[in-house]
Amino acid sequence: MVNDTATRTGVELRGLVKTFRSADGPVRAVRGIDVTIAAGQTVALLGPNGAGKSTTIDMLLGLAEPDAGSVSVFGMAPTAAIDAGAVGAMLQTGALVRDLTVRELVTMMASLYPAPMAVEEVLELAGIEQIAAQRTNKLSGGQTQRVRAAVALVSDPGLLVLDEPTVAMDVEGRHAFWTTMRAFAARGKTIVFATHYLDEADAYADRAVLMARGRVVADGPTTEIKAMVGARTIRATLPDVPLSALGRLPGVVNADRHGDAVILACSDSDAAVRALLDEHAEARDLEISGAGLEQAFLQLTGGEDDDEHDPRGDSAAAAEETLR
Ligand SMILES: Nc1ncnc2c1ncn2[C@@H]1O[C@H](COP(=O)(O)OP(=O)(O)O)[C@@H](O)[C@H]1O
Ligand SMILES: [Mg+2]
Repeated sequence: MVNDTATRTGVELRGLVKTFRSADGPVRAVRGIDVTIAAGQTVALLGPNGAGKSTTIDMLLGLAEPDAGSVSVFGMAPTAAIDAGAVGAMLQTGALVRDLTVRELVTMMASLYPAPMAVEEVLELAGIEQIAAQRTNKLSGGQTQRVRAAVALVSDPGLLVLDEPTVAMDVEGRHAFWTTMRAFAARGKTIVFATHYLDEADAYADRAVLMARGRVVADGPTTEIKAMVGARTIRATLPDVPLSALGRLPGVVNADRHGDAVILACSDSDAAVRALLDEHAEARDLEISGAGLEQAFLQLTGGEDDDEHDPRGDSAAAAEETLR
């Protein structure tokens, strides 16, 4: 129904602002967001808890009214796009209609849209054929998530919006879920998903929009974002090797020493580990750690003074950004 082409704009967020009133004063959840997403792209909204991802998604879906700015979805207002069946969504909360079988639920949802996918096709795409006869209130957490994904897909939407869809899933569930989403994206669909997992953004998105404290702090191909925030450190016990030799290893950007231990800051820790063990087989006690999103976010946002002070104080704001 929505005739996507590579050049068409899928989603346009212009100057979005949203402030919530709370007992402690205003909470500026979204402070001016501009993002344009081409039709057919898969984009991750990446950021720690409290960054404003869900608030942005709610405005994108017309569930919250922006204080300022505008949203356009395939050239339409969000509500019009949803009425047209052009948008499917899987939000952080939401229950399934009870006391129906999975197939009955999907069939019922399909009947609400002008040009739905065939029910059997949706069941297959979401990997829930085997549980189609089960009642929705008898499903495991992972199964429930898959059925919710099916409900989001059933209108055959041009845009699929997912808010931290894999949070409750185990590793296998995640894998199955993203296999479904990849198959859907391959039909030329636009997918926007919120996540606080860098790895998930890296593995499944073409592009990551990095959010912190209601703002976009970086926006680019996931490889770039990963390089920016995904730096890793190698520690090893290696007493008698000069730092200059270690600093020259491929993938190493800086070498430091604490007693017998060396600490290598890496742009490519895989290459660095291989080279380190090739050239210095006596290295022991290797440890590789990620700088972590949290630290990266603090670096990216640190020092920047916001146009308004968080009424709860910086420590509360920082604590809120702590990643799981
Ligand atoms: N309905 C609301 N009322 C008050 N504050 C809210 C409300 N919804 C979200 N917030 C606050 O807005 C900020 C952004 O929240 P949210 O958009 O949910 O972030 P994220 O999804 O990135 O975790 C947080 O500080 C959150 O506590
Ligand atoms: Mg959220």
